[in-house]
Amino acid sequence: MFEPVRIAPSILSADFMNLGRDIALIEDAGAGFVHVDVMDGHFVPNLTIGVPVLKQLAKLAHIPLDVHLMIDNPLRELPWFLDALQGAADPGSCIVTVHAEALYGPQLKEATDTIHAAGCKAAVALKPCTPPAVLAPIISDLDMVLVMSVEPGFSGQSYIEGSDAKVAEVVALACEAGVRPLIQVDGGIGVRTAPLVASSGADVLVCGNAVFAADDPAMALQEVCRVADRARMAALEV
Ligand code: DX5
Ligand code: ZN
Repeated sequence: MFEPVRIAPSILSADFMNLGRDIALIEDAGAGFVHVDVMDGHFVPNLTIGVPVLKQLAKLAHIPLDVHLMIDNPLRELPWFLDALQGAADPGSCIVTVHAEALYGPQLKEATDTIHAAGCKAAVALKPCTPPAVLAPIISDLDMVLVMSVEPGFSGQSYIEGSDAKVAEVVALACEAGVRPLIQVDGGIGVRTAPLVASSGADVLVCGNAVFAADDPAMALQEVCRVADRARMAALEV
């Protein structure tokens, strides 16, 4: 059955002096999520948004937050972020993503259990070099898998060619396990690359610069959505 892709604009590329305005803009344009990039300056070489800002964003947004944690100690810090999300209109539809590379062995399951216990949806992200096979023990616990199509840390980077093949590998892994988590792709997604990942099985597309650096961000968001849906539909018909 055809399901339209959802766009998750990354506010890392928004105007931080006018976050409320920019979030209203993407909500009106039909965004599915507000993608919030949390970076700690250790896991990635950049520092961005922390708990106090997330708390404000949760109260402000009318659509679910999609919180991408690029931090070294997810197990220690998860409770703070989960607490901040309790102020959202519907915490149960918010997604919290931890990186597979920051957690070892049973810690991955511990992290997703902690997220679920707070009533949120749990996702695991893979850096470009991390193979989907690391998800095998945990795939049936996940609401979403995030495939990074750039090295995490900065917006405005170029899509790493071949990331769409990795999306297909995640689809195959999930199929084998008999589950169907959402698949999100993050990094360098725009009108050229959205069709590649959408036809390979991506459900949620993160867009930073492709939306917020455009002259008309609302139109840019809708155009990415349109070309991705067309590719997804065509892939279904094959
Ligand atoms: C990168 C972040 C991305 C980034 C996307 O580490 O996780 O969400 O903001 O920005 P674009 O779409 O410009 O690559
Ligand atoms: Zn991100």
